[in-house]
Formats: sequence, structure tokens, C-alpha cells
Amino acid sequence: MKHTIYFYILLLISATCAAQEKITIPIETSENVTILQTDEDNRLNIVYFGKKLSDTSAYPAVSKQFLRSDPDNSITNNAYTPSGTWNLSEPAIQIKQPNGDHSLELKYISHTIEMVDDNVWLTSIVLRDPVFPVEVKLFYKAYRRENVMEQWSSIRNAGKKPVMLEKFASANLYIAGGKFFLRQYHGGWAEEMVPEETELTSGIKVLDSKLGTRADLFQPPSFVVSIDQPATENNGEVIMASLAWTGNFKIDLEKDSYQNLRLIAGINPYAAEYELKPSETFETPALIYTLSHQGKGTGSRNLHAWATKYRLRDGKGKRLTLLNNWESTYFDFDEPKLKGLFKNASDLGVDMFLLDDGWFGNKYPRNNDVAGLGDWQENKLKLPHGLGYLVKEATAAGIKFGIWVEPEMVNPKSELYEKHRDWVIRHPDRKEYYFRNQLVLDLANPEVSSFVFGIIDSMLTKNPDIAFIKWDCNAVIYNAYSAYLAKNKMPQSMLYVSYVKALYGIMEKIKNKFPSTAMMLCSGGGGRVDYGALKYFTEYWPSDNTDPLERVFIQWENSYFFPAIASCNHVTDWSPAPLKFKIDVAMMGKLGFDIVMNKLSPEDLLFAKKAVEEYRTISDVVWHGDLYRLSDPFKKNIAALMYVSPDKTKSVVFNYLANTRYQTNVSPEPIRLNGLDPEKKYRVKEINVYPGTMPALNGEQLYSGEFLMNIGINPAVNRSRASVVLSVTELSLP
Ligand code: GLA
Repeated sequence: MKHTIYFYILLLISATCAAQEKITIPIETSENVTILQTDEDNRLNIVYFGKKLSDTSAYPAVSKQFLRSDPDNSITNNAYTPSGTWNLSEPAIQIKQPNGDHSLELKYISHTIEMVDDNVWLTSIVLRDPVFPVEVKLFYKAYRRENVMEQWSSIRNAGKKPVMLEKFASANLYIAGGKFFLRQYHGGWAEEMVPEETELTSGIKVLDSKLGTRADLFQPPSFVVSIDQPATENNGEVIMASLAWTGNFKIDLEKDSYQNLRLIAGINPYAAEYELKPSETFETPALIYTLSHQGKGTGSRNLHAWATKYRLRDGKGKRLTLLNNWESTYFDFDEPKLKGLFKNASDLGVDMFLLDDGWFGNKYPRNNDVAGLGDWQENKLKLPHGLGYLVKEATAAGIKFGIWVEPEMVNPKSELYEKHRDWVIRHPDRKEYYFRNQLVLDLANPEVSSFVFGIIDSMLTKNPDIAFIKWDCNAVIYNAYSAYLAKNKMPQSMLYVSYVKALYGIMEKIKNKFPSTAMMLCSGGGGRVDYGALKYFTEYWPSDNTDPLERVFIQWENSYFFPAIASCNHVTDWSPAPLKFKIDVAMMGKLGFDIVMNKLSPEDLLFAKKAVEEYRTISDVVWHGDLYRLSDPFKKNIAALMYVSPDKTKSVVFNYLANTRYQTNVSPEPIRLNGLDPEKKYRVKEINVYPGTMPALNGEQLYSGEFLMNIGINPAVNRSRASVVLSVTELSLP
């Protein structure tokens, strides 16, 4: 139902401004509470963020226990810190008035609490500046069972002249602690999600990105903050957060003079002043976060449960296993070759064939990455009978057909660039800078946005049987200049935000018009993995690096924030690792292949086919089960993790050798399982065994859940058996 949110309004509280009387607003999930309270000047402050109390009537008195009243420190725990008046810290919001005045004060006006359903409560708080006509709304959407908060704001210009938004954060948190440990990420192409964990010191630590088209690449918008001591998998108080925005972001982590943490997250204000016209409202993207008191394991399960139910497109559904041709052919293919690959896909037993880059462009054929982007017509030499023919042939081979696109981009060597140079983000008087030989289209221009939507719309309308789209984005924005904004006398600084908002507009239309077409979010590897875009996508591509050992680490880190069902893991020829290791690693997510099947040995081919069958028996648990990380490859020689069905009857345990240096005794200790029922009896069996090799475990063995979780089981991983997959099934099941 479209308007469930309004339909289920069961509770509506509205309070009007009462300067003397303190107003207390508790925002609760099943375990936690954020307590907001007005002060004597009617400003809204965060007085507590942590475990909730069973006696909610005690909340108004909580603030008295925190002695943060040094007037010379200003207020550091404001719920949405304005700038230019009393504040001396990093602001959440900064506005330039038409007369150049930068001052802003926000006073509490009213709040409402809507019960969206029995699990989701939305608290909206109205703040207003007593001097300038600016209204801010703070939104706190509490997903109670999942212990996840979605927090954002909106800013309204109630005046008669435009104002400039100079900073417009989504969320402003305040966390008491004393010591904070930040786990942040950096990376680059083929080396995504490299973690670093450090203690925060006084001052501001900034995580940010200025790439324009995507959030990730050098620094992703996902991070972990442990309170007091670094959280482990099962212990410690920890916040796990991700900004749902596909463009430039900025996360300020400021340790204040009370040694508490001020966390301000939102769109990056860098070169992004936004003009807000009279009566216009600017809505910020949401910060998604959870607070766990039982370490990162619970935190990540909270996020997975939230994402699969409320965010990821088709989060509770199924995914298509596939054969992709990128690494096996690159740009070099034609119809007969593709028909051969369809047959390969069907022999392998996967659901779909995914045709990658290189199928389009005629005047400038896409035979390499320097030409053709923008010209989305089938290349007549490679595909004389068009896409329709390929879809038909794939269907005849018993598989579905998917296709790669990169519609936001253009090569200077293209007809699109020749015809519509003004559609391209480029500076008219400056040298063009390219990222992978291409430029970005100016989505701030509505004509360009409808062109981009039109590419997908006409392709899927002509070929309704296309089952899957891999949407790539290989370039960042250089020379952030829009001919459209210039022509319409709008500030150039609106480009970054307008770009992402327009992108979401396009994706929303695609999602609504083609609800059953699965979509993979890809960006020159894992350059675009965020909860803003994942609303429109069923899955994401974590990295072009498909070396299975590298993937163990990349997938491990992504798993703190994103569920396995969204992770596309392909088996490729990128590394010389054994096929079994590659497949076992790819199985912890959505399994795909990108290999030259004809080059496989008969044993490998047989194994791959059996593995696809085996995967069908475990995919439901991997996609919809609860993830427990058991052995951390950053600390130990083995990476082990398991997925457990919600009813604890079925589970699959993946064990990988994560250190290939010579060791005589790599796994002397058992791996302790987790998430099982201690009372149940389980049958443990090695699966996905390579033909002709001995399984690590001898046949089926029976253990209690208690045994498996307290003593554990030794998968006997070693250099000749670099990965071992175990199925753990309740005895009563077949
Ligand atoms: C990007 C993707 C790859 C592939 C190529 C095609 O790099 O990450 O998987 O699709 O583009 O050009």
C-alpha cells in the first residue's frame, strides 16, 4: 500500500512551544533510546543515547545526571547544531541569508510521533529560527525490532527571497563515552574496503568523498565507532553506520571538550552551496545506524535485517545465478560466440547469461573503452540481429538474459558527444579531464535525465524478457560545470546535489516501471555501494578483484553493513587459485561465473556443475539467514563465517585459509559455531567436495548445538584444502 505511513498513524502527539517547560522526547528501539530535551532557551539537545530504560517516566530526569553546563563551552550536544550564533563547534547546518547574514538559531516548536506500523515509529520535530524564516524538521525513524535508526532532516525556506544552504547535514548525534575507536575504510580500484581502526583524539576526524558520481572508491560512507574499547564480534558497545547517499558525503567525528563524540553526517558541503527558493524544502538523505551492546556481530545482523526488509530492492526474494562474459571475451564477441556462451551457461546450470560491455556503438564501435559510450544502439557487426534475437536465443537455451549498461556516461569519441556537447559535465574554457576515457552526463539537465531514463525504458519495453541490468558507473566528475545550470542562471554549486537527486529520480522511475527486472549496482568495481542507491538495486558488485583470497577480505568488511543476498560474487580467472576455493568464496553471497568454460578440465567442469546444484540447496540460508562471523582473517589464519536459518534448523559454515604462508599446523583449534539452538541435535557434513578428494569430515557426524557452540568443530583447513564448506542441519530434517 503506497501510503501505509499515513494509513497506520495510530499515535499523534503534538506539543507547542513552551519556553519554560522542558520537553522530553524519547526515541526508542527495542534496546536503545535517544533522549532529546529542550533547554531553558528552548533549544533541543541530546541528553542521552544508549540502552533504554523499562521505566520511561524516568527519562525527563536523565539530563540532571550529566553535568555539561560550562557556559564557555557553548552547547556541544545540540540535536541539530546551527552556526553563527552561540555555537563554537562543527555545525550541522549553515545558511546564508539574502543579506549575507550567516547567523542561525533553531528553537523547538513541536513534534509528532507516528506509528507507521507495529515496528516502525517516526518522530518528526519542528525547529524554527526566531529571526529568519527558516524551518528545520528532524526525522527519526526507529525500526524497533531491528534496533536501526534512519535519521534525516529537511530545511524549508519560509521567506520571500532565496537563501543559500552552506551545510545541511542529515544527522547530528552525541555519544558519551570518553574513548572512541573508529573503524573506517579506504581503497581504490580492485582494493576496496581496506579497514583501519584507530582511537579518535580531540578535534575533528573527517571521512569524506568528492568524486561526484559515487560515494565509494577512495573512502566509503560506511563506518563503525566502538565506545570505550574496540568492539569484538560478540562484545562491546558499537555504532555501525552508513550514509544513504550516492554522491559526495562528509562525516565529521568531533571529540569535544567533555571527551564526548559529536557525529555529524550528511552530503558534503564542499562546492555544494544549494540555493533554496522561497517556499522550497530541501530534504537530506538518511544516516542509517544501529547501536549494538553485543559487538559487531549483532550490529551487522541488525543492519541486514533492516536492509532486507525495508531497503534493498527485493530483499526477501531470490537472485539469479549467472555466467558473465566480461573476463572471458572483453569486447571481442559476436552472435555465434554469444550463442556458445548461452550453451555454456545452460550446461553449467546457472539461471542467466549476462552480456557485458561492448555490445553497442556503430559510428564509434565500442571495441575498447575509448569509444562508443552514449550510443546505445546495438553494434551491427557484432550483433546484426539485435538484442531481441539474443534474448530469444538465450530463452531457447533455457536461460534468462541480462545486459550491461553505463547510461550516465559518454566517451568524447561518440555520436552523443558530437551532437550534445552541452549535455556533458565539462568546462567550456578548460581542458577536459577523463576518468577511464570518459565524461559524465549532466543529469542536472532534465532533458539529459529523460534521455538516460529513455535508454533503459526503450530497451526494456522492446525486450521485456531482459531479466537483469548491470548498471555501471566508471567515471567521477572533473570540471564540475553544468551548461544547463549556467543557462538557467542557477549556481554551479548545485550540480553535485542535483546530479544525485536526478539519478534517484531516474532509478525510481525504472523501479516503478520495471519492478521485476533485477539490477546490479556496479561502479568500476565496488565504487558505489551505499544504501541510497540500494533502494533501487537488488545487488551490488563489491570489486573487480575476484581473486578469492582478496574477496574473503573485501566481502568480510562489506558484510558488516550489507547483507549477503546483495553481494555479487563471481568465479573468474583473475587468479590461479583452485576452482573449488573460488567457488566456495563466491558462494557466500550471490554466486556467478565469469570464466572460459571450454578451458576447464573435465574434473573442474564437473565440480562447477555440481557446485551450482549444491548452491541451490544452501542459497536460501545464505540469502535469508543470520550471519555469524566466527574466525577473523585479519587476526587468524582462517576466515570462518556461517549463515543460520531464522528457525535454527539449517546452517552453512564457510572456512577459508586466509594466510598462505608456510605453516605446519594451520588450524589446530576448532571453530566455535554460533546462532544454533543448544538443545537441538545437528548433523554436520562437508559439502561441495572436489571430485576424487577426501572430505575434511568423515561422513556425517552428530553434535548438539551446545557442543558446536562451546567446543566447536575443526574443519581441518590446510594448504591442500584451502576451503571447507560444512552444512549443519537439524537431525529431524531430511
Ligand atoms: C567495470 C566493471 C566491470 C566491467 C567493466 C566493463 O570496470 O566493474 O565488471 O563491467 O566495467 O567495461
